[in-house]
Amino acid sequence: MITQPLTVLDHHYQDLIDDGKDVINGLNKNPKTLSPKYFYDDPGSLLFEKICELPEYYPTRTEAWILNQYADEIAVITNCCELIELGSGSSTKTQALLDAYQKIADSCRYLPIDVSGGILKTSVLQLQEKYPDIAIHGLLGTYEQALVHLESNYLQSRMLFFLGSSLGNFNPEECDSFLNQVSRTLQPGDFFLLGIDLQKPKEILEPAYNDSQGVTAAFNLNMLSHLNWRFQGNFDINLFRHQAIYNQVDNQIEMYLHCQKSHLVSLEALDLKVSFEEGESILTEISRKFDLATMEKELQSKGLKTVKTWTDEKGWFGLILCQLK
Ligand code: AVI
Repeated sequence: MITQPLTVLDHHYQDLIDDGKDVINGLNKNPKTLSPKYFYDDPGSLLFEKICELPEYYPTRTEAWILNQYADEIAVITNCCELIELGSGSSTKTQALLDAYQKIADSCRYLPIDVSGGILKTSVLQLQEKYPDIAIHGLLGTYEQALVHLESNYLQSRMLFFLGSSLGNFNPEECDSFLNQVSRTLQPGDFFLLGIDLQKPKEILEPAYNDSQGVTAAFNLNMLSHLNWRFQGNFDINLFRHQAIYNQVDNQIEMYLHCQKSHLVSLEALDLKVSFEEGESILTEISRKFDLATMEKELQSKGLKTVKTWTDEKGWFGLILCQLK
């Protein structure tokens, strides 16, 4: 049977369509900020895939190691009908879980959700070939759109997963409302599997976000190119420089684009003109680093009780499996 690989969520949730208001707000702030969601156009998503393979960027391979070690155990504990991945990207790491589920489940479906249509469609088509017994269907949209959609499209039992420490890219308020929405999307007994990057020395963290090949720099600068095509802008990426620093007070990596020369930028579609001073910075991303016990308490406060946690040998990355009470 031929099925459409994707559902585009935008069309159903007009109120959540991205109109660039956050860009206007962020660039009018002092200091200037931009949302990390603008990293992920198709070129940005490909650059992120490259980041995941960098020798300095340990999170992806560490989480993949944990998943490969424990996927069978996770599948046996959870044994759900519906596997839903928020921010699936290429779904590479997820295959350990799909392999494990293929061994135990008679029928289940996997719904990967992402904002990048190109990478989502390619991975859905590949996975449909590789896992003929699992119904696979992509949802193209933001986390908010997907979670709203999922509240009213419930099958029987559900595991929602959010890997790669993407939760770290939310500030505490965003994190709080995200976790509230996650628990609204689940029924009692359903599971949430969360991958989080753990606190560790600055000497390991900073190189992971300032890699020697300049891939993270290209990823950060690509945000400006994305804004150029999306909002008819004229950012000159040669006038900005990437830097990531670890803020040890807030336990977070902060990624900046530093302006090298005073100039004016316009984004025509937003009717916006912004002046940049030499030395001024745009904060494009925070990447918070967590500790397991605090995160378990936070999840517990949302009704999500820890079933089991796993880490790697160095204790660099954590996977928490929790269940809605
Ligand atoms: C997607 N997210 C979890 C990545 C991180 O590590 O915070 C994004 C990233 N930014 C720079 N390198 C990777």
